[in-house]
Amino acid sequence: MTLSHITAAEAAAMIKDGDNLALSGFTPNGNPKAIFRELSQRAIREHEAGNPFAIGIFTGASSCQSVEGDMANAHAIKFRAPFSTNADFRNHVNLEEIDYEDMHLGHMAERMRHGFYGGMDWAVIEVSHYEIVGNTCRAYLTSAGGIVTTAVRLAKRVILEHNTFHNPNSRFLHDTYEPADCGFGRKPIPVLAPYDRVGHDYVAIDIDKIVGVIDSCIPEEARAFKDVDEFTSKMGHYVAEFLVDDMKHGRIPPQFLPIQSGVGATGNAVLAALGANEHIPRFNVYSEVVQDAAIKWMLEGKIIDASATAMTVTNECLHTVYDNMDYFSKHLTIRQSEVANSPEVIRRLGVIALNTAIECDLYGNENSSHICGSKLMNGIGGSCDYERNGYISVFTTPSIAKGGRISAIVPMCTHVDSTEHDVDVIVTEQGVADLRGKGPRRRAEEIINHCAHPDYRPLLREYLRIADKGHEPQSMTAAFAMHDTLRKKGDMRLTDFSEYLK
Ligand code: COA
Repeated sequence: MTLSHITAAEAAAMIKDGDNLALSGFTPNGNPKAIFRELSQRAIREHEAGNPFAIGIFTGASSCQSVEGDMANAHAIKFRAPFSTNADFRNHVNLEEIDYEDMHLGHMAERMRHGFYGGMDWAVIEVSHYEIVGNTCRAYLTSAGGIVTTAVRLAKRVILEHNTFHNPNSRFLHDTYEPADCGFGRKPIPVLAPYDRVGHDYVAIDIDKIVGVIDSCIPEEARAFKDVDEFTSKMGHYVAEFLVDDMKHGRIPPQFLPIQSGVGATGNAVLAALGANEHIPRFNVYSEVVQDAAIKWMLEGKIIDASATAMTVTNECLHTVYDNMDYFSKHLTIRQSEVANSPEVIRRLGVIALNTAIECDLYGNENSSHICGSKLMNGIGGSCDYERNGYISVFTTPSIAKGGRISAIVPMCTHVDSTEHDVDVIVTEQGVADLRGKGPRRRAEEIINHCAHPDYRPLLREYLRIADKGHEPQSMTAAFAMHDTLRKKGDMRLTDFSEYLK
């Protein structure tokens, strides 16, 4: 039995307005690209002809420009979940053109299985290789795990994108395990250590569902990170020093605990600093992504083993992994996101969660997804899966944004993603606020004294002085005043709240 080969244009022509597509990939890695380059063009033609054309897109996390950027620009996304980091997509969401559910990544596959999003019409999966065994196609995934095991089982029809840009042996990095449905008798996910393999190196697909294979050779649409700068380097250094101190005091065991590090330039810089710190022993990573810094430390032996659901790396770094497959296949496990981001596994392993915030308030509530409350930046991604369930939850953020016109430490967050009950530590380039074992007023003092930018400390202290007394002092009027000034003038600086308090 062989599978039929189709062009990307033929595949795109099969998709109907309103269809739900579940895709491979997690971050801009491992997404099917060829079909989407055709599909966005088709959407433009359909709209010019006066025909409606918009689809639902479901992935493990964010995706690449061809998938969500170009499709958003073509007004071809009806619904999207669970995460995005794409600037074009964000613009169309903020114009209220796209229905976007910003959702915990670890919950995505289960929500699909239980029909929260209706049926899945298609699964479109990027593979590095595939083979037929009886009535099953064994599909070998590329640079990401994501939601594929669930997607191919639920979808009515499946399209494979065979992308020869990837090493055909990428299978040796993967462990595809799909948990059973919830209820009595469901077994725990048997991952006991970051490298553990508990499933298969392939995804099994019923061949009767596969309508064709698109042959392609397309590089990953990966982004390079911003260089480490003065702020990110200081934050990385403070995080490393904080963890060393916790280890000295016995709060972290001498063999250390697995590290999760969020997506982006700050996450990369923090991991670079952890690797370089001579007092931190060789450690493991249990995270949703490995970025370039993690791959470097793996090669140098500072990171022992890593578990992730994607290699969110530059193409150069991806080829370093492929060129050293013998090593990485024994030290790096790429999982389905339901396992990588499983709250139960994260809690049991005692993961140290390191994520990035847009703003934090005086009590430790944190906003990582919305600017001024209304405008989407990216979303929560997997940050809450980890910070809520990790052993220690650290948020980093520069103390100021937009050249100092905005303080990232605010009286009250305009949008809350992680609550004060879940955030243990805040780190800015100014220093570290350890919130553990402190009530609201001591937290506020800790955050103002150690994390707020000196220019904003008087204002934040004034807020505390005028706030209504109570367990957690607040003044809605004064908090509104700061955000109102920001909205009107693009500047949060207020010298005096009195005008607003009349
Ligand atoms: N008010 C207004 N704008 C702010 C701001 C604030 N308090 N803080 C940051 N910004 C702006 C920056 O100026 C920048 O704008 P620009 O793109 O116009 O330059 C933008 O927000 C991004 O900030 P930057 O400092 O470049 O942040 P980053 O790349 O480190 O990303 C997050 C920070 C929070 C957006 C990012 O980490 C994120 O999306 N986190 C949530 C998801 C997550 O943690 N995932 C991890 C697991 S998947």
